[in-house]
Amino acid sequence: MKTKTTYFCQSCGAQSPKWLGKCPSCGGWNTFVEEIVQKENKNQPHFKSTTTQLAAKPRHISEINYDELPRISTNDGELDRILGGGIVPGSLILLGGEPGIGKSTLMLQVAMKLKDKKVLYVSGEESQQQVKMRAERVGDIVSDCYILTETSTQNIFKQAEMLEPEVVIIDSIQTLYSAHIESAAGSISQVRECTAELIKYAKETGTPVFLIGHITKEGTIAGPKVLEHMVDVVLQFEGDRHLVYRILRSIKNRFHSTNELGIYEMLGSGLREVNNPSEVLLSQREEGLSGVAISAMLEGNRPFMIEIQSLVSVATYGTPQRTTTGFDGKRLNMLLAVLEKRGGFRLGTQDVFINIAGGIKVEDPGIDLAVCASIISSFEDIAISTHVCFAAEVGLGGEVRAVNRVEQRISEAQKLGFKEIYISKYNMKGLDTQNFSIKISAVGKLEELVEGLFG
Ligand code: TYD
Ligand code: MG
Repeated sequence: MKTKTTYFCQSCGAQSPKWLGKCPSCGGWNTFVEEIVQKENKNQPHFKSTTTQLAAKPRHISEINYDELPRISTNDGELDRILGGGIVPGSLILLGGEPGIGKSTLMLQVAMKLKDKKVLYVSGEESQQQVKMRAERVGDIVSDCYILTETSTQNIFKQAEMLEPEVVIIDSIQTLYSAHIESAAGSISQVRECTAELIKYAKETGTPVFLIGHITKEGTIAGPKVLEHMVDVVLQFEGDRHLVYRILRSIKNRFHSTNELGIYEMLGSGLREVNNPSEVLLSQREEGLSGVAISAMLEGNRPFMIEIQSLVSVATYGTPQRTTTGFDGKRLNMLLAVLEKRGGFRLGTQDVFINIAGGIKVEDPGIDLAVCASIISSFEDIAISTHVCFAAEVGLGGEVRAVNRVEQRISEAQKLGFKEIYISKYNMKGLDTQNFSIKISAVGKLEELVEGLFG
């Protein structure tokens, strides 16, 4: 067999038989690299292939029976919930995140917590000593965990065959290489081949495999999106490296909904599960501060309270600045325009800074009303009572719009001791206010909010 090469775009994974200056798929320049997809002499055995013995036959759907596979609990409440009750045997779980966010720490902690399971932790990045040092830091070593420093997939499978682990963790996919592919570790074709081999291993042995993947600066795991299609579950670990909170999000899950979300706190002794995020995020509040508003937001299925801080001050250096952390800048511009046009607030000459406390990024439009309230509060320099919170979207006409799962948001606010919540009047239909002891103030327009809060 001849050596076969193809050109791959290193940012999106597109293929081309010849070199191209510009990728027709993602538009990137100079991203094509020649990679050998098949070696001249291919006689090294793959991971034990059983495809010839097990030729699949179609079966009638009613004849297929499956015993609900017992999920393996990770003993980590947040992770279990995101996975839908634990690890599904034989599944491949990809954990993505930026370097330094805590992926290795999380996985090692999972390895330590899987008490009665034999775990194989394969590290291509750190030595056995380094891994052990970290393991001691994050907790007592009580589990049946083996550390292997290896980057060749063939060797990993050889060791796995002897050890017969019940869970395998690979840190990271970018360090692996398969002897079947010539190109360098971390290149598109290597990443793809190694993942394919791991999937085969997982499916054939029923061993679940966790795969750590670094996210490139474009925000995709290992560059190509192609990895995400191959695996069963894609989790993303995110947060600001300089802040303590980390969010574990499920992007794809073949066995559960992707609406779950986990929150961790990075401590000196590893990651701590945050069971009640609202309490942590609200703990540093100061009474009587203007520009602060609390929103009952929703991340996935989970409601929690978040603090929005605004600073509005006269722009002294020409063009007013608009800076946001954790909130979409375009959305801020829209809300400012609405406040100016519909509310009559002269914000055009003001610098506006918005910060979401805790380093959390919020996409839920349900925080709009709180953002507006905090801007007005800072602009007017009147503090909002710490017993008040908000949950509504704001439209271009200055109308206060309904949000989803309003009951859940109200319950969360009530649970945390808030006395009043502002919601949209359009959310009142079908809402059983008898269930709540918290005061529910329904508004239809921004003016009504201003009237209610500061009037
Ligand atoms: P790490 O898990 O190595 O990140 P990744 O594998 O995603 O690259 O975590 C790196 C950071 O976590 C590092 O900056 C130090 C910090 N850290 C703690 O704060 N506490 C700890 O107990 C550990 C193990 C790490
Ligand atoms: Mg790491």
